[in-house]
Amino acid sequence: MTGKKEIESLRPQLAQRHQEHLLAFWPQLDPRQRQELLDQIRELDLAKIDEWVEQLVTGTPIAEVAAKRFEPAPSYGAEPRDTGQRRKYRKAMELGDKLIAQGKVAALVVAGGQGVRLGFEGPKGNFPISPVRQKTLFRLFAETIQAVSRRYGTICPWYVMTSPLNHAQTVEVFQKENYYGLDPQDVFIFQQGTLPSFGLDGRILLTDKAQIARSPDGHGGCIRALARSGALADMKKRGIDYISYWQVDNPLVRLFDPLFIGLHALDGAEMSSKAVIKNAPKEKVGNFCRIEGRVNVIEYSDLPDELAEKRRPDGTLVFELGSIAIHIINTELVERLNAQAYSLPLHRAVKKIPYIDPQGHRVQPKEPNGVKLESFIFDALPLARESIILEIVRSEQFAPTKNAEGDDSVRTTRAMMVERAAAWLESAGVQVPRQPDGSADCLLEIAPSFALDPADVAAKRHVVPELQPGDQLYLQ
Ligand code: UTP
Repeated sequence: MTGKKEIESLRPQLAQRHQEHLLAFWPQLDPRQRQELLDQIRELDLAKIDEWVEQLVTGTPIAEVAAKRFEPAPSYGAEPRDTGQRRKYRKAMELGDKLIAQGKVAALVVAGGQGVRLGFEGPKGNFPISPVRQKTLFRLFAETIQAVSRRYGTICPWYVMTSPLNHAQTVEVFQKENYYGLDPQDVFIFQQGTLPSFGLDGRILLTDKAQIARSPDGHGGCIRALARSGALADMKKRGIDYISYWQVDNPLVRLFDPLFIGLHALDGAEMSSKAVIKNAPKEKVGNFCRIEGRVNVIEYSDLPDELAEKRRPDGTLVFELGSIAIHIINTELVERLNAQAYSLPLHRAVKKIPYIDPQGHRVQPKEPNGVKLESFIFDALPLARESIILEIVRSEQFAPTKNAEGDDSVRTTRAMMVERAAAWLESAGVQVPRQPDGSADCLLEIAPSFALDPADVAAKRHVVPELQPGDQLYLQ
């Protein structure tokens, strides 16, 4: 269909859904802008719009979870709890090691978010985070992947999900950095989809006369994007069975964790998760629970107060497991979900969304004025045949860099990186100078090439120099 004919046929379809304003500036657009706008309208899933508006924008969201019966989800402890488990953990480690060495595991980082809270220009993965060398998040992950590949004598392919809003910039960064020394053939950068953003009245917002307001479709968008982009086919071709999934803002993540992979595989799980013990009943992390026999993550705001506060006789929380967005996902599950054309449910987020008014004036709202829609990866958990949870020690593996300042910020992340390095050094017998408040009195950074875990540090103890207060130490 030619552009003109197509637009005439789209007009009534848009009008039927109260979205005819998307063409309000059509007569003022030049041919290139018209093409751009037409492409974006084509991308809209028109058949879904009424449902989204009704259920997620103008209507009262159905509190589906509120009606459900929550039970605590079972988990494996960070340490085995008895002799039987000790044996199982050992077996799991061996199996995990074997699967990694056989090249059955791939890395997947989701890096398609907008990173609004961090407020950094460019992809979040390009943020210089490490305490001494200011290495970026992407570089740290790349060096870890390289170190793991070396340790196991295998290739660990890396899949990086971007969105149309940061894809070109991300590719540019990887090219400029020569893929951080990785073989570009083993790095697969692919894009997730986007969804339109709505005003609170249910009308899709325009950010410009030929630009529909849109945002990436959430980290859950990776299920579809893996298939659509060819990444899943690439994984199948390489014989990958397990995907090690994490978020771009956590530099402490332990990639290719043999214990986690091994427990997951031993129990025949399809999607598994790492968890931290929450530090408060209402800590702002997703909560693991079991609903109708299946592992789910529900948002902290959806966990009723009396359940959130409930404690066992020993004082620990009954619902103590917080989600940190680290998973193992089987390629087979991703394939099955795509074959079933299953879409993860959408969630709404009320946000300040810049837009243009009917007169074409740009508005920068001071109050939330619209709704962004997104899907969450953890909604795939109840669809997995089996799912395990492994508790981890927060200070070892979880430092989310969400904000420029305050909690979960660049400062807290760097401090945690230093503290983890200090703990690894101390466990190898190195004396780390400490401040009166107990924090390390030196700046420490351990490169992945030097150590992936405390055992590596212990093995290289002899090359670590004595530390004095105020020292800066970089080990590679
Ligand atoms: P967050 O929910 O923390 O969002 O994403 P964000 O975009 O990084 O930051 P804000 O909320 O705008 O400040 C958690 C992880 O999921 C990825 C992010 O890149 C991050 O790794 N993500 C999020 C995607 O890959 N796609 C999305 O659509 C959303």
